[in-house]
Amino acid sequence: MPKASQQGLKVLLRHSRIRQRVRQLARQIERDYKGQPLHLICILKGACIFLADLLRELKLPVSVDFIAVSSYGKGSLPSGEVRITKDLDQSIEGLNVIIVEDILDTGLTLNYLYRILQSRKPKTLKIAALLDKPARRIKEVPVDYIGFKIPDAFVVGYGLDYGERYRNLPDVCVVPTVEA
Ligand code: IMP
Repeated sequence: MPKASQQGLKVLLRHSRIRQRVRQLARQIERDYKGQPLHLICILKGACIFLADLLRELKLPVSVDFIAVSSYGKGSLPSGEVRITKDLDQSIEGLNVIIVEDILDTGLTLNYLYRILQSRKPKTLKIAALLDKPARRIKEVPVDYIGFKIPDAFVVGYGLDYGERYRNLPDVCVVPTVEA
């Protein structure tokens, strides 16, 4: 695959830096849960790489499930609508749950999902987001673990896409021509 710079992208976070931060988050989660079993819920598709890396770092009994929501269309524009397009496979009642998300932008998606999942009676419910764009927030969300706060720019790579492209870039990069 051509380098990010050859595709007109600007590297914001190198993979080595992301890996180091994911390790730190894993240590923090281990301290908080003290050996208790943990259930990670990955929001498809963008969080899949973050989940895979976080999961392998955690020295705790961990199970995983996946949920998909529609929040954005094919490009970068929000549709304004949030709905579940693929629900969880198993009940979360009584479990220690962490929602794993790629990026917190307006907060609409996580605000909605948090309320839905809370109503399913988990023992505890927390949120881990790799990236946070605080400048764009419309709805407040209780995020417990944040990888990086980033500026108001549209980013791709490390699972994040623009029209389904760039998910396989190891670094998080800014797409200069796209408005956030
Ligand atoms: P929110 O509901 O506005 O917080 O949006 C969350 C979702 O929008 C994320 O899970 C991403 O799928 C998508 N998103 C927001 N900002 C970006 C971005 O900069 N690049 C790629 N996807 C984004």
